[in-house]
Amino acid sequence: MKKDLLSLLDLEKEDFEVLFNRAIDLKKRYGSGIMDSILKGKTLGLIFDKKSTRTRVAFETAMIQLGGHPVYMSTQDTQISRAEPAKDTARVLSRYIDCLAMRTFDHELVKEFAASSTIPVINALTDSYHPCQILSDIMTIIEHKNGYENVRIAWVGDGNNVANSWVNAASVLGLDLILACPDSYGVDPKIVEAASVNDISTIRFTNDPKEAVKDADVVYTDVWASMGDEEEQAARMKAFQGYQVNKELLAHAKPDVMVMHCLPAHRGEEISEDVLEEKDGVFWDQAENKRHMHKAILECLILNNQK
Ligand code: CP
Ligand code: NVA
Repeated sequence: MKKDLLSLLDLEKEDFEVLFNRAIDLKKRYGSGIMDSILKGKTLGLIFDKKSTRTRVAFETAMIQLGGHPVYMSTQDTQISRAEPAKDTARVLSRYIDCLAMRTFDHELVKEFAASSTIPVINALTDSYHPCQILSDIMTIIEHKNGYENVRIAWVGDGNNVANSWVNAASVLGLDLILACPDSYGVDPKIVEAASVNDISTIRFTNDPKEAVKDADVVYTDVWASMGDEEEQAARMKAFQGYQVNKELLAHAKPDVMVMHCLPAHRGEEISEDVLEEKDGVFWDQAENKRHMHKAILECLILNNQK
């Protein structure tokens, strides 16, 4: 496994399998009351420049439950906000902590941190990617659908950071993925081009949500205006009309379709209230699995970096 996890293209297929297996194992161990302490004495730094509930708490609790400690830093409270260069901050933090999880706007910043750090840097969401989210989401698919092979996944909505990470994952794992996004809100062509290098012909694109969900086993959506896009909210509400994941749209999918959302959700926009409140909704398993997957990621990256 590489030192850093900045996008899912940093992982080989075997790395994905290691993480899925370990996260599922750690979840079972935790459920049986086994307290692992494999990261005893280790410290995870978190630098967050955007809001977070799940990712932050999942990383902090993951670290604590493995015997280590988290140190949370809002960017505004650090010297980064007073223009200390990333390369200096990265070198200093490498002398204090064993791993750094970063949530920020520009993906280039996490790349700069990774290049100047001797410790692993994990992307906890940038404008471009949300790799840890998709790792725990595929873990959830494995649990509910007995694997990810032969599972048809339909993305309906914005071609955003979460969608980009789905395209990355699909290109490495050969997922059957179709994305329905409105014109001008599709996945970045550079990300599509990078995916085609792996010669995966199972990634498809459409403007028609009904076509996307036809025969889908999983329908995935996310907010229409991501963090940083708030000023475009009104224009986006117009552009995304017809893209809501609701009962009417889901009637075109398989009867046992599983609806997924990384959360937070905007009820009545990208997803209807009744779909989100459906009994047996998998959204809460997705949220829980972030903690188990974050444990697997932390363990692999921190221990690998010490070899
Ligand atoms: N899904 C997710 O990343 O949620 P948060 O923004 O709450 O971390
Ligand atoms: N696309 C969303 C994901 C939040 C977890 C955002 O970036 O705001």
